[in-house]
Amino acid sequence: MSISDIAPAPADEDRAAPAHVAIIMDGNGRWATARGLPRAEGHRRGVEALRRAVRNAGELGIKVLTLYSFSTENWSRPEQEINDLMLLIKRFVREDLAKLHEAGVRVRIIGDREGLDPEILRLITEAEALTRDNDKLTLVVAFNYGGRQEIVGAARAIAAEAAAGRLDPASIDATTIEAHLQTTGLPDPDLVIRTSGEQRLSNFLLWQSAYAEFVVLPIYWPDFDRAALEEAIEEFHRRERRFGGLTARARA
Ligand code: IPE
Ligand code: IPE
Ligand code: MG
Repeated sequence: MSISDIAPAPADEDRAAPAHVAIIMDGNGRWATARGLPRAEGHRRGVEALRRAVRNAGELGIKVLTLYSFSTENWSRPEQEINDLMLLIKRFVREDLAKLHEAGVRVRIIGDREGLDPEILRLITEAEALTRDNDKLTLVVAFNYGGRQEIVGAARAIAAEAAAGRLDPASIDATTIEAHLQTTGLPDPDLVIRTSGEQRLSNFLLWQSAYAEFVVLPIYWPDFDRAALEEAIEEFHRRERRFGGLTARARA
């Protein structure tokens, strides 16, 4: 049997966009360095790519877009770079919140809020409160987010309920865990995209990505545009999702 004997995935009748697309926005620094620019310029251009991604996701009919903007491990970067990133995040919310609200975007932030800059905390709270009833697109921003920390938080909350006698440990199942994750109520991502060619999750949505299709694009995040998003979605449609079972074709 040669590689050409392996039948391609069947043409997918349903070309609708995946309901939940999650993106690891990576490569801002390398984008800048390749052009002899400071890394901060890469991050600034990264925010423009983020704006485009939100607009395009809405137009393509994606219902949930999750963007990894800052990980719990990113605090280990130089202080100046962290300051640059925090400034950009604040500026983004200040400048874009009204437009996002007008466009029917519901904003939700996941990640650890403890110890955050009070101004960022205020902006996050305001963004969520203002847009809570919107339903065109849910924009989930993973900020100071770590998948392991999220699972640890869920474990702690569940253990506390059990210790208080409100929960029988034997009744704990996947639904219990999901109810205690920060993404509770959201569907799992169907498609996880990472730019910059790196093939790893870097602590992103560890639980939720169990059966997501993973598409790695070679381009750096500031170059991510409509064509790149469409390319990733096309690749998603070429995949055959099995969820551990057999497809109708394999059964035949
Ligand atoms: C992604 O770009 C943005 C953040 C992680 C905040 P990077 O800053 O990781 O860029 P590279 O990977 O160093 O090129
Ligand atoms: C992951 O990118 C975090 C974000 C995109 C916010 P990193 O650049 O931090 O990941 P590593 O260090 O290459 O794994
Ligand atoms: Mg990186």
